[in-house]
Amino acid sequence: MDDYAKIIYKDKTYILPVIEGSEGEKAIDISSLRQETGLITLDPGFSNTGSCISSITYLDGEKGVLRYRGIPVEQLAELSSFTETAYLLINKVLPTREELNRFSVLLNDHSLVHEDMQTFYQNFPRASHPMGILSSMVNALRSFYPGLQATEEEINIMVTRLISKVRTLAAMSYKISRGHKVVYPRHDLSYCANFLNMMFNTPVKPYNIDKDIVKALNVFWILHADHEQNCSTSAVRVVGSGRVNLYAAISAGIAALWGPLHGGANQAVIEMLLEIQKNGSNLDKTVKRAKDKKDPFRLMGFGHSVYKTYDPRAKIMKKMCDNVLKKLKINDPLLDMAKELEEIALNDDYFKERNLYPNIDFYSGIMLRAMGIPTNMFTVMFAIGRLPGWIAQWKESVDDPKWKLSRPRQIYIGPTKTEYIPIDKRK
Ligand code: ACO
Repeated sequence: MDDYAKIIYKDKTYILPVIEGSEGEKAIDISSLRQETGLITLDPGFSNTGSCISSITYLDGEKGVLRYRGIPVEQLAELSSFTETAYLLINKVLPTREELNRFSVLLNDHSLVHEDMQTFYQNFPRASHPMGILSSMVNALRSFYPGLQATEEEINIMVTRLISKVRTLAAMSYKISRGHKVVYPRHDLSYCANFLNMMFNTPVKPYNIDKDIVKALNVFWILHADHEQNCSTSAVRVVGSGRVNLYAAISAGIAALWGPLHGGANQAVIEMLLEIQKNGSNLDKTVKRAKDKKDPFRLMGFGHSVYKTYDPRAKIMKKMCDNVLKKLKINDPLLDMAKELEEIALNDDYFKERNLYPNIDFYSGIMLRAMGIPTNMFTVMFAIGRLPGWIAQWKESVDDPKWKLSRPRQIYIGPTKTEYIPIDKRK
């Protein structure tokens, strides 16, 4: 044992191995702790618990570093495409030109969804949230494509099918919610251009595919593609550990992402900015409310469970947001308000002391709004982007020979043994 930690409990010393990652991160391996000492560890929210060993994403929240398979997210945002980044996450290395072409062809081949799935959409109540619909539809895919997931080839097909169809399902949900005719995917368009076309093309007004908007969407999805063991990814891994099919595990990830403290924050940011605008754009009052411990209000899009400095994705997103608004010649007062709010918060002691900086969601909603994406679909956009990460993380668990069923423990604080009282004797 090269490195170890000592635990002294009731005068007895226990030696536990310390393992080190490739970037020097260290962890005490406590897998034998209970067996040796009778103790478990308690870590609500698991914020000090490593749930797995992974080679997918490296994140340093103190320094604001994010890399996929070692490559800085800044480089991928500038030089890569979403499909290439998806390939990288899932297959561990960047594709050759031939591999990327084959991946793109496969994505096109699997882009249609079964016509019968349209009837599901028709029967959801009109006010249903698109995240609830998407989570249900992804789970339903298993019934339409019940093939095995045993061989490498079968897994590859299932993975490609999912990445391709999720985009079609999301665009379909928008079209059906508006009462418009569904637009089918086109083989001549790239992944991102295809999505925009399926969303916004209509028989009366053909959608003009703009390369800068396509680039912005690529960047948006690249920035969301993975974020190591966050809430939704942990959900995918935990649910997957019961050996459910991939569709069910991803469906659980979508449900977890929906929450306003996680992926739902991009929608919550726009709703917050609109509310501030409606109430007279008083930003000082807003910041005061966010600091008031008696008020449950929080500044949405601010703070992060791991970044204790500026979220590196937020920097890129802010620039992208500016570009898109300029390109589309949109003057959105919400962007000016967001920048002003950021300025006030970054210079406020409360936010400084707690290391609260804008996260990716602070500016992403404004950019999506400018592109014409409805607010209630923002989190769906996040889900499409996060899908390759969820798949890569699920695949990593499947390939792990020591893959265990996730089963945390607890410290019970309820009543000790209590006798049953028949109903007529209860007071
Ligand atoms: N506004 C005001 N105060 C905040 C905020 C905020 N957005 N975020 C954290 N704080 C305060 C807390 O009240 C707490 O104060 P205290 O120490 O006086 O009690 C302190 O900062 C630490 O907060 P925690 O909730 O313990 O921090 P944690 O790291 O667990 O939370 C979280 C992270 C949930 C993201 C939080 O910052 C938050 O609610 N932000 C707003 C929602 C949001 O933007 N979510 C998107 C995250 S990014 C993503 O999932 C893609």
